Parts: sequence; C-alpha cells; structure tokens
Amino acid sequence: MDRPIGVFDSGLGGLTVLKEIINILPNENIIYFGDTKRVPYGSMSEEIIIKYTFQAINLLLSKNVKAIVIACNTATALALSKCLDKYDLPIIGVIEAGARECLNITKNKVVGVIGTEATINSKKYNKELRKLDENIIVFEKSCPLFVPLVENGFSNKEESYLVAKNYLKDLINNNIDSLILGCTHYPILEETIKKVVGDNINLVNPAKETANDLKNILTENNLLNTSKTKSSYKYLVSHIDDKFESIANKFLGIKIEDIEKVDIQNY
Ligand code: DGL
Repeated sequence: MDRPIGVFDSGLGGLTVLKEIINILPNENIIYFGDTKRVPYGSMSEEIIIKYTFQAINLLLSKNVKAIVIACNTATALALSKCLDKYDLPIIGVIEAGARECLNITKNKVVGVIGTEATINSKKYNKELRKLDENIIVFEKSCPLFVPLVENGFSNKEESYLVAKNYLKDLINNNIDSLILGCTHYPILEETIKKVVGDNINLVNPAKETANDLKNILTENNLLNTSKTKSSYKYLVSHIDDKFESIANKFLGIKIEDIEKVDIQNY
C-alpha cells in the first residue's frame, strides 16, 4: 500500500516525531502538514484547536493518506477523541504512547509532565497515566515560554536555562524519577532541561513509542508499504518565513526539500 501517511503538527515541532517515524518506517511515503501560520496552538481554546485539527485532517485526506499521526501534544489532548469519532481511518496521537513509555521507565511511580497550557489544563497525560496504573503519582507544569525560545533560536542558551530552572524547580522537588516531554518542541531543549533536572530524572520523549504505535496500527490494518521504490517526503505548511529552513532542519536533522504552501482556511 504505497499511499502516504499523514503527519500533522501545529508547526514544525512535529518534525521531532517525523524523525522517529522515518527511522522506524523507512519504507513509508509521508506527507507532513505544519500549521506554521497559526502556531502556537498551546494557548488557544478547545473549540479552535478542534476546528484547526479537523481542517488539517481534511487537508491530509485530500492527499489520499492511509493513516494519520497527530504529532502535536496539544491537538492530541484536545482533539484526538473527536477525530476518532468523525473520521474513518487509523488516527493516532502522541499522549497514550508517551504515558506508556513513561510507565516503562519509572521505578518509584512518581512522575512529572510538562507541556503547553492547553495540554496541561486538559489533564490528558494524567488521565492516560492513571488509566494504565492507578497508583501512579503525577505532577504537571505548563512551560509556555519554551516554544518561543526554541522557535527563536535560544534552545541551548543561558536564557533557556534560566527559564527552565524557574519552571522546573518546584516540580523536581517532588521526588519524580521521570519527566514526560509533553510538547513537540521540548526534545530540542533536552540538554538544557537535563542540566536543570540532573541525572536522576529520566526524560521521556513520546516520539519513538508513537512511531512504534504507527507501525503496529499499519501492520494490523495491512497498510504497510511493501513497494521497493525510494520513499518520498512532502512538507505542506500554511506559512513560510525566513526562519523556516533552519528551524525545520534543526528539528528533523535532515534537509527538507519538497515544501508547498497551502491555504488551510479552504479545508
Ligand atoms: N506542537 C505543540 C505541542 O506539541 C507545541 C506548539 C504549540 O503550542 O502549538 O503541544
């Protein structure tokens, strides 16, 4: 089945998830949509996040995708269940995978979650973790400045360190042994976050487990691409500016080539 997989994020952060998908499923053709015109979703209302997610899925469906990954934590938290009700193709998000990965890692069952305001306020990580293990203790904290710091090139600079210290100092006093990076941008800040939390707290990035979930769901539905032609990657965005290429390459680690601007309002 050589139809592409659709991967959606509010912007370019989802490229950190795409990277793992390409690693685990190198044979698959992929169409990525980043809503770069309307990012960040993290401080928007539930109604708007659902509307934007539906538009993104409609766009990807118009490209004949066979399955969709909502690579955005915020869109997963607020809109995944609505998408599963509305659409009739395999759709997965990142939160269930992140919660499962965290439970595999934690030893003392006291864990932290960081994410955007919308993700943290939704308590989706908390609910997912408790569904898997009702004895887990979860501490959560939104870190709204992390996304603009990454997008503006401050990832491993002193400014990010000071902000991270401020956000995380109380969280790490709760004896957590694992911390879920519940936002696509946070793996880019991994070095800085590690410097603040120290070596005794494991950082959990949901991306790899999400890619594994995708592989499983494609296998179960007999949708894996078995053709031997070289995989193609296409990038759709709602806005391109002069920062685009350098940010995109930093997130993905490989050069982005086939980029097209789309008018997302039409979907
Ligand atoms: N992609 C979003 C997430 O993972 C972060 C950026 C945003 O706020 O839209 O939550």
